[in-house]
Amino acid sequence: MKIAIGGDHAAIELKSDIKNYLTSLGHTVEDIGSYSEASTDYPLYAKEVAERIQSNKVESGILICGTGIGMSIAANKFEGIRAAAVADPYSAMSAKKHNNANVLCFGARVVGVELAKMLVDAYLNAKYEGGRHQTRIDQITSFEK
Ligand code: RB5
Repeated sequence: MKIAIGGDHAAIELKSDIKNYLTSLGHTVEDIGSYSEASTDYPLYAKEVAERIQSNKVESGILICGTGIGMSIAANKFEGIRAAAVADPYSAMSAKKHNNANVLCFGARVVGVELAKMLVDAYLNAKYEGGRHQTRIDQITSFEK
């Protein structure tokens, strides 16, 4: 899978770990930054990842900030983006199965690297179930118009 990953200054180390993990699983990862621990603004990275999904350059995105919350709020402003901020594997799995999330967000100040890998696994290994969930996603999509 082609995945874009982004994070702010709070996420530098965890982003690097997760990027390496995704690569080891055979995914193609585009790291859109940030590349330093200098203070920066998370919406910039949410925008870059969201636009790559919108233009079908990648299938999914992973966004990491301190909590995952700012990234998800920012990414969800973009049409067609369903970004889920999660901190447990059940929610990460459900984000794909029920919500067809195309961006997974989590917080580098909330989860450690091993839990973050579990979140990524739960999300990537889950399959969107469609059916009644599509009705609900269609309702959400109608709010974008
Ligand atoms: C940066 O200090 C922090 O606010 C940011 O990483 C994120 O947690 C915002 O939601």
